[in-house]
Formats: sequence, structure tokens, C-alpha cells
Amino acid sequence: MQSPQETLADLTLAEKASLCLGSDFWHTAAVERLGVPRIRVADGPHGLRVQPDEADHVGLGGSLPATCFPTASALGSTWDVHLVEEVGAAIGVEARNQDVAVVLGPGVNIKRSPLCGRNFEYFSEDPHLSGRLGAALVHGIQSQGVGTSVKHYAANNQETDRLRVSADVDERTLREIYLPAFEHIVTTQQPWTVMCSYNRVNGVHASQHHWLLTEVLRDEWGFEGLVMSDWGAVSDRVAAVRAGLDLEMPPNLGISDAALVRAVESGELDEKDLDACVRRVLELVERSDGRRAAELDVDAHHTLARRAAADGIVLLENDDGVLPLTAGHVCVVGEFARTPRYQGAGSSQVNPTRLENALDELRAARPDQEVTFAAGFGLDDQSRDAELADEAVAAAADAEVVLAFLGLPSTAESEGFDRTHMELPRAQTALLERLLAGSVPVVVVLANGAAVLVTGWRERAAAIVECWLGGQASGGAVVDVLTGAVNPSGRLTETIPLRLQDNSAYLNFPGEDGHVRYGEGVFVGYRGYDAAELDVAYPFGHGLSYTTFEYSDLTVSTSGSHDAGDLAVTVAVTVRNTGAVAGAEVVQVYVSDPESSAARPPRELKGFAKVLLAPGESTSVELTLGSRDLATWSTRHHGWLVEGGEFVVAVGSSSRDLRLDATVQVDATPPRVDLDAMSTLEEWLADPDGRAAVLTAVGVDPAGRPRGIVGNEKLLSVIGNFPLATLAAFTGLGITPDVVEALTSGQVGSTTAQGTSQPATSRSPSEKSSDSIG
Ligand code: BGC
Repeated sequence: MQSPQETLADLTLAEKASLCLGSDFWHTAAVERLGVPRIRVADGPHGLRVQPDEADHVGLGGSLPATCFPTASALGSTWDVHLVEEVGAAIGVEARNQDVAVVLGPGVNIKRSPLCGRNFEYFSEDPHLSGRLGAALVHGIQSQGVGTSVKHYAANNQETDRLRVSADVDERTLREIYLPAFEHIVTTQQPWTVMCSYNRVNGVHASQHHWLLTEVLRDEWGFEGLVMSDWGAVSDRVAAVRAGLDLEMPPNLGISDAALVRAVESGELDEKDLDACVRRVLELVERSDGRRAAELDVDAHHTLARRAAADGIVLLENDDGVLPLTAGHVCVVGEFARTPRYQGAGSSQVNPTRLENALDELRAARPDQEVTFAAGFGLDDQSRDAELADEAVAAAADAEVVLAFLGLPSTAESEGFDRTHMELPRAQTALLERLLAGSVPVVVVLANGAAVLVTGWRERAAAIVECWLGGQASGGAVVDVLTGAVNPSGRLTETIPLRLQDNSAYLNFPGEDGHVRYGEGVFVGYRGYDAAELDVAYPFGHGLSYTTFEYSDLTVSTSGSHDAGDLAVTVAVTVRNTGAVAGAEVVQVYVSDPESSAARPPRELKGFAKVLLAPGESTSVELTLGSRDLATWSTRHHGWLVEGGEFVVAVGSSSRDLRLDATVQVDATPPRVDLDAMSTLEEWLADPDGRAAVLTAVGVDPAGRPRGIVGNEKLLSVIGNFPLATLAAFTGLGITPDVVEALTSGQVGSTTAQGTSQPATSRSPSEKSSDSIG
């Protein structure tokens, strides 16, 4: 194959247009005459979904067997970037084995509301964590010479009306919550592709969003790969090319290509814009060329899937050490123990290479102990629920421990629709109540893609084990945790609230009339619960272990400086395993800016590390933060802003189990603001040069006080927040039209008061971008 540049020069207009569309559901277009092959893409993200025959993007048709790894909700709960990378590499191997050039994932959208039907496919409510986990998966997959498609860019946080709804979200919130995971992955991994989302962002289709696809993604973050559409996300192909969308999937054959040809011929579309898209398609094809098919070790991948699933299990509660199991006779209740719920429904659905269930695995792991079973409820057929519950209650009465396998049936959550509540199905909670009323301790084992409420019963459960949707080996993985073969080390990547109503998105989800207003702003997930000081069932970052950890010797030191752009805040802490068994702790670092002039969440995750420690062993964990970790997005200065002063760095085992903290002083030159007639008098006076100019302009009275309002504190406190232009309309304040004219034309004071100095922000390259975000 010749180089993309050479090929581009040889292509006809029609061929160029054809390359900007797929050739079918899962392939790009070939140009045989020039030796350009087609390449295959496939879902993603937690295993492959290669469809040999009929094609669809909603999980209806069959696909070739592939290892079903834990979904993002489970994999993310490992908080283990090395493990995530390992899983990524395994997916990469499977992709090569099935001739897949690009895996359609990972999904790094933020879990804005627990109700989003696709939360199982996303990592977290926190952008830092989502970015790090997503980057690890991308790194792993791409290490095998296979591309990724980081999705769904951007602000795709619900399924309701997902093809049309406009996520109405302010720029600060986008910058701080919804974009950073994409930004981190793009700037650190250069994913081969990014997939735009279905929805609109502030009224503009993501597929046609020039600010998102070109100004931010390419100009600011330096993305060099290809942007493809989500399946069916393009509404105006010509506008999409102009915005920077390279590849339309699946192809609207005969329509989109014809539209592109017509647009170039009529001059409506500059051929250079089309060429830019074609070149990126050719580059992607070139990159994918020459990959060797890989040998697949199905057993090894299954073992990895089991390890990953076990490490993603979160032990929420464990009263009196009921776990790991020591009891002899165990009664297993719940159809999920026999018929596991292990992955979500929709485009990510994998046809697993094998499937474990917890009941068989438990019996295999404890051959000498009695394990009885009662289904307790039906999954597809609910007509026998009452009878099944009676049987389960009777069976449970004879046991030493009840293991109740509960969760969400696949009909309760899926791609394509959102939940309307967070409860477990009624038949299950009714059964649980009856089990809890007995005298046998009940361990609740949960399988669900998004958080479910545990309010009302969690205090009475002897233990709660949250497995999420752990993939094909989740049955064995949970048995490993229950028996203690694996010491649980998963941590919550999303808060489990006491009530759905406590979630900050509650009043603005899922919107109406084609719009969803992100009214909670940056107060998403724990940022919202913390700011509102709400009790939660289990906080972000929570997860128990069969051992205990002690934190000591926190030091936080700084080097470099924010103004020089090389600030490094080094956080070091010693962690010791104080229990009797080996275990892994997730050390979490949260930053607070108590003196911020902007409304900021009480704390934000800015670093984490997972460490494995033998009993009695201790280790020092060191993490480095930079300016960006202290910054907030300033809409006014259009950049990242660090306000000098004190920051609190807290270290702990969850967002609400902070063991140690330290205060650190960070110096940062305050940003300069452009001062003009619409700037308030307070703003003029807050700026050193502006203040000098105002004082000169108004002059002093015989007593030596500044004339008019400037010398009158009371008046200043009441109308000092009026713009100069407004004050000039009032008489007697000393701010006359002449004074305003003198100040704004630079006749008094220094030129810096006219806004010629730069804001001292921790600038992203966003300076270039326009103020408009659609
Ligand atoms: C989903 C994507 C998926 C694509 C292809 C769409 O419906 O939103 O996540 O990659 O289909 O199956």
C-alpha cells in the first residue's frame, strides 16, 4: 500500500467520499484499485462482539465467542491500572485473533445519575478515576497493535432520547467533569480513534460539533487519530466533515457519499476539509495493516477474567467477620447463583467462551461442606415467586449462613433506556426481608451494573458483597472472595446513596423536550453529596478487606512554582497491613481548596495507588500532583485557574474515611482581568494598577480621602458592584463620564489596567478556543 498522502493524491472525488463512510456495519471502505483494504471494527469494551453474519448494534444478533471480561463497573472497581492494562492487552490479543483493527471502547462517560442505563459500561462518577482507568485499558489494547475508540464524546450520560437530547452544560462543568477523562486519554495515549456521541451538546449534534471535535480535541489536546461517529449519530454528513468527523458508521450508503460529492462540486464544502478526513481514514488503515494474527489462550484469558472480577468485588459490609466463610452448612438462595447476571445488554454484549456460576463453583470449592440451594425468585417467569420464596425461607432455616444472591435482572438496566428507580425488584426485597427475619445470618451478594439502594436492610445483613457485572468468570470470582481465597480489594467508583433523591442530578434527569440541564454543575457524585453534607449508604472509594491498614507519616511538600509552570506537590504516606492476612489497599488522595472564590466541591480525587501488603508489611506510597490538580476552570479567564493560598491534601481509604491530612501553601500570581467600562468599581479597585488609576482619576478631598464613592466605605459596600458605566449615570459619586473615559482610554494609570497583562492561569492550550461551546 502506498502512503496515505500518495493515495490521497490518486483518489477520485467519489472514492474520497466513499472512504468517509463505512462499507458495511463493521468495516471501512476499500479502494481496491489503489490497494486500500477495508478494516474491521468491533465492540467493545469488555470483550469482543464480532458478528460473522447478521449485524446490529444493540446486541440482538449473535457474535463469535470471546472472553467476556468484567464490565467497566466491575473492572473499574479494582482501581488497579496494571490489572486493567492486562485485561486491555488480552482484549487486544483477541482482537488480532479475530482480525479486528479497532475495538470500540472504552466508554469513559461520567456516571452523572445512578439511573443511566449504561452505567455498567462506564467506570466512575469521578473524572480523574475514569481517565486513569480508561487510559490503562487503551494502553493495554493498543500495546497489541490494535486501535481503540474512546467513547462517547461527549456528555452522553443518559439513554433517554439519546439520539436527540441536548446536554445543556456550562463550560466549567464540561472542563472539570465531562471532558477530563477524554483529555487524559488523548494526551497520554493517543488513542487511534475517538467516537462521538449521539446526543447534542448545548444544542449542537456531537457529530457536528466543531468546538468539541476540532478546537478542543485536536487543537487543544493534540489528537492525531480519527473521529468516528456512534452508530447512526450523523445527521448532516457535510456539516460533520466540516466539524471534524472523519468516518460515518454505519454508512448511509448512497446518501452521505453523494451529499459529500455534491457539496464539494457546488463549493459548499472545501475539498481540503474532505481530504483531511480521508487522510485520517487512510492513516488508520495503514496503521492496522500488517498486524499478525495472534494465538489465543482461552483458558488463560478466562483465568484473567476471574482474577479481574474478584479484584473488582467490593465488600460493602462484613459484620463480626462473617466472611470469609467458616460456616459448615451454607444455604444459597437466589436464581442469580445458578443463572448469573454477568454483563449488560446492548452493543457491548459478548458471547462468552464459557460461563461459571457461583453455585457450582461454591460446591467445587467446599466439597466437604453442605451447600443447599433454593432459587427464591424467578428471573423470566415471576409467576412462582411466592412459592419459590417459601421454599427458600424453609431451606435457609437449617443453615449456618445464608448467601442471598440478589441483583438486577437484565430487563431492569440496559443500553437504550434509563432506570426510573434504584430499588431491587420487589420479589427480591420481600424475600430478603423474610430471610433477615430468621435467625440465620444473611450475606447479600449483589449483581447489578449500576448502584442499587441498600437502605432499610443493610444494617441487618451480616455482610454485603457487591460484584457488579463481573463477566463470564464472575461466579468463580465471588466464591474466591466468599471463601477467602481472594482478599477483597475493590472500592466503589460511585457513591451508593441512601435515597435516589439525594443524588445531585435528581431534579434534572433525564430532562424534557429534548433538553437535559446539567443544573448541578460540577457537583456530580460524591462532589454533590459532600457539598450538601448528606449521609450516604456507602461513600465513593469505600470497600472493606479481610485485613486492616494503618496510615502514618504523611508528608506533603512542594517544588517548582505554579507561575513557572513546574509546580510539583509530592504526597508521601506510609501504609501498613495491620491484620493477619495479605491484602491490597487503595490509597486515595483528595484535594480541597478551602479558600476558593469559586464554588468548589469539598474534596476531589486527584491521585490513587493500589498496594499489596503481606501481614505486618508496610510501604511508602508517593504520588505527585501538579498545578492542574489544584485548578478550577475559570470561565472568565477561559483557562485553568489556581488561586494562591492554602490547599488541603487528605489521604485515606475512602472519600469519607480520610486518615491524614496536611495543608500546603501554593503561591500563584492572581490573574489579571481586562478592565473596562463594564467592569465593576470593586473589580477596578481589586486590581493594583486599576486601583492606582481610579485613585488618580477621582482625586482626593481636602481631608485627603478619595473623593465620592471611592472614599465612602458604606456606599462602596452597597453599590461597589455596579459597573463604572452605570455609576457614571449617578451624580455625586465622583465617577463621572469623564473619569470613565479617562480610565478606559488609558489616560490615567498604567496600561496593565487596560487588560494587556495575561491572566496567571495554569493554562491549557485552550487559549485559542472560542468562547462559544455550541
Ligand atoms: C453504541 C456504541 C457502539 C455502537 C456499535 C451504538 O449503539 O452507542 O457504544 O459501539 O453502537 O455497536
